[in-house]
Amino acid sequence: MTSEPGQHHPAPRPHGEMDARAARRAFLTAAVRRPAQVGAVVPSSARLAALLASVVPREGSPVVVELGPGTGAISSVIADRLPAGSRHIAVELDPTMADYLRRSHPGLEVINGDAAKLSMLLAERGVLQVDAVISGLPWALFDRQTQHSILGQVTNVIGSTGAFTTFAYLHGMPLSAARRFRRTLHDTFDEVVVSRTVWRNMPPAFGYICRRPATPAARG
Ligand SMILES: C[S@@+](CC[C@H](N)C(=O)[O-])C[C@H]1O[C@@H](n2cnc3c(N)ncnc32)[C@H](O)[C@@H]1O
Repeated sequence: MTSEPGQHHPAPRPHGEMDARAARRAFLTAAVRRPAQVGAVVPSSARLAALLASVVPREGSPVVVELGPGTGAISSVIADRLPAGSRHIAVELDPTMADYLRRSHPGLEVINGDAAKLSMLLAERGVLQVDAVISGLPWALFDRQTQHSILGQVTNVIGSTGAFTTFAYLHGMPLSAARRFRRTLHDTFDEVVVSRTVWRNMPPAFGYICRRPATPAARG
């Protein structure tokens, strides 16, 4: 994929109990200050992270983008899969979480920015296409236009060969925005796989694994 020479180095990650506590504290602080932007009170579990990161190539020199990485619960699992020479870029809107990520995940290229401007943010860094986009964004809190515009950015950068994964909370599915998002995924991608529920996530959640943006003609 189009990128600068590989910059990914296996990163020191928050393994210890102190680091895990610091991550939970940073996450909770952001969640309390900006609930409508964060959409959760605890980071994703390792099981959910593993499911979402399953599309990350283990070989070659892939470029992988994370949207809404928070305090890096999914970033760590992605970093574990990525081969040396790859790029791992994270776009996080919250400046406090972006700072936390820079300190805790030095191998990660952290952009403090809006996922709605993804193509531009990547182009500024010499990236036109990526192998995978893994999203932790709170889609059910977004209005129709925001959902469409961010998904448009995602399809633009993954092209016909990349993959996109994201998750939804089971208890949120009665919400119209969550159901609208699922319909929009089916309209946007040729393939949408709905995963099993990860019951040991807090709260229980499932993943969407999407490939091949549908052509306008196929969308009808
Ligand atoms: C539910 S949290 C998920 C955090 C982490 N990925 C995890 O699973 O533990 C959502 C994250 O998306 C970020 N976010 C919300 N809107 C965003 C946007 N437009 N662009 C980038 N990040 C955004 C929030 O600041 C927050 O860190």
